[in-house]
Amino acid sequence: MLQSLRGFQDFYGDKSKLFSYVTKEIIAISNRYGYSRIYTPLLESSSLFLRSGDDLVSKEMYTFKDRGDRDVSLVPEGTASVTRAVLENNIPTPAKLFYISPFFRYERPQKGRFRQFHQFGIEIVGIDNIYADVEAILLASNIFTNFNIPTYIEINHLGSVESQNRYSEYLKGYFKNKDLCGDCKDRYEKNILRILDCKNSNCKDISEGADSIDKFLREDEREDFNKILSILKDNKIEYKVSSNLVRGLDYYTGIVFEVKSSLIDKAVAGGGRYNNLYREIGNRDIGAVGFAIGLERLMDLTSLQIEEGTDIYIAVVEEKYMENGINIANILRSNKIKVDMELRYVKFKKQLSKASEFNAKYTLIIGEEEINSGKLSLKNMNSGEQKKVNVEDILKEIEL
Ligand code: HAM
Repeated sequence: MLQSLRGFQDFYGDKSKLFSYVTKEIIAISNRYGYSRIYTPLLESSSLFLRSGDDLVSKEMYTFKDRGDRDVSLVPEGTASVTRAVLENNIPTPAKLFYISPFFRYERPQKGRFRQFHQFGIEIVGIDNIYADVEAILLASNIFTNFNIPTYIEINHLGSVESQNRYSEYLKGYFKNKDLCGDCKDRYEKNILRILDCKNSNCKDISEGADSIDKFLREDEREDFNKILSILKDNKIEYKVSSNLVRGLDYYTGIVFEVKSSLIDKAVAGGGRYNNLYREIGNRDIGAVGFAIGLERLMDLTSLQIEEGTDIYIAVVEEKYMENGINIANILRSNKIKVDMELRYVKFKKQLSKASEFNAKYTLIIGEEEINSGKLSLKNMNSGEQKKVNVEDILKEIEL
């Protein structure tokens, strides 16, 4: 039997309903905040991502040659694609954009970690100030509140490229000749800050002795960070400053944050400011901040029973009335009424029990008597009241 690939999954039944529900809610919230949706391709030139030396890009991408011998990759995240799209299409900035899309990472699959997963993400492009930073954090946090998921924000400030360089210089000296794991030896060369969030216990112990980035921030960066924290406090957002938080992607300069929950050991969302990415990709000075939520993780934490009912269930007394049923269903559905009926005839009694199973508000019964009189029996499933109505009067009779 052919099976889906490891780390890839199908959504159907309750899970697909939950996915639709969650994305619909998130789109409504994004609209309230004034974001507009952007769709970018699932396949991009590998060079869009290969700029950086972070683990994601060097080890986790689905990269291959297409039939035209081009180096292409399945998108591992949305920020680089949105950056390319803004530059390529000259999208006017400031722009507040959001996306919902599958992404692909060749990671070791485990609970909450897939090789194809979905993110909802936002990018505020062309605004370089703390208010944009704060809006991103508030939006991320409010989305989880909307689903009644308790979360807190883990936050750090990585400083400008210059501050990061000064810190990197210091770390070069500090970690020199220390007994780091193999991965961190690599990070020492490529992105030394990443050693700080290595999960290896020995590396963790070594990192503890290092000065935190705080010391290397410019005065105005420190002030900005404090102001952001104070606005979060005013808005009753629970946060924890974590000087080891450097994030897996290496384009961040400025604040970085992750949304965490006590209900799960992995981050449910992550983001930050990345003022340098527009320079790297398009040689332009455009400030930007954003975040992305892992939708599989959000769904895992959503203990929601989606009560979905149908408006009208059509029950036909004998098989020969199936055609009448189909015709009436078509009329009602064209009038935006949600209608269910069996496409394979089952006994009338069984259909009536299906009407309850489908949580129907009304059952419309079609039998000999109804066809002869031209009036159908409409039963209100709540009150039990049943009356005869002409097809054209059904819309007037029902209260949805
Ligand atoms: P990221 O931290 O790599 O950031 O991913 C954001 C979220 O996507 C994670 O917190 C997690 O919930 C989810 N996620 C990541 N990988 C997986 C996986 N393999 N399986 C399931 N869920 C996963 C970014 O991608 C940045 N582009 C966010 C950003 C936007 N920064 C600025 N703008």
